[in-house]
Amino acid sequence: MKGFAIAIDGPVGSGKGTLAIALAKKLNAVYIYTGAMYRELALACLREKVDLQNEEEVLRILKKIEIKLIAAEEGIRAFLNGEDVSEEIFQVYVTRAVPIVASFPKVRKEMVSMQKQLVKDIGKDKNVIIEGRDISTDVAPNADLKVFLTADLKTRAVRRLEQFQEKGITISLDDVIKDIEERDKRDTEREASPLKATKDAVIIDTTEDNVDDTVNKVLEKLRERNLL
Ligand code: DC
Repeated sequence: MKGFAIAIDGPVGSGKGTLAIALAKKLNAVYIYTGAMYRELALACLREKVDLQNEEEVLRILKKIEIKLIAAEEGIRAFLNGEDVSEEIFQVYVTRAVPIVASFPKVRKEMVSMQKQLVKDIGKDKNVIIEGRDISTDVAPNADLKVFLTADLKTRAVRRLEQFQEKGITISLDDVIKDIEERDKRDTEREASPLKATKDAVIIDTTEDNVDDTVNKVLEKLRERNLL
């Protein structure tokens, strides 16, 4: 690895994506959004009408699809078999299907190995910022800096609601709260790599932070480690 790798984990709405995009810009790094990969898989399964509860079927779909993430000005664009699905993967019906496909150990193993390869390839000559739920624990356990973001439920729900509104999706705050609680439960209680902070992670509570506050906290940590 020539560049450095920053791993960012945390629950829904903790600000991972916003932080990753802002840091990638500041540090001229490549941002890998692993949630988009699970979202693309869920979308592919829904399109192929496979039984979402069937691990082997979901794995079969994962092995046959082509997932591509391309850095764009506003973040990342997601391509599924060459088709731009960047908007569709955030639709509510896809979002609800993701934790189901993401709960299977064989699916996670395959995804983690794809993601490790991405970090290795990109890290040869660039800085990498990779964000998800199992990055510090499984995908990039040797990352130069591990960040675990948190924020209280209401704050996370309001942020998520704003993201939905920006995308023109209509949903109530109560429904967002229910969805987040459900996803938190699945993400933290699943047997295969549940969401948790590693001992060496820097934990940042973003409830009271704006993006710049969080970015500055991370930059400070990078300086402390002589990475900047
Ligand atoms: O970050 P996000 O909300 O777009 O992630 C979508 C879903 O994918 C979420 O339910 C958790 C899951 N996910 C995961 O299990 N592991 C990752 N590394 C990234 C996302």
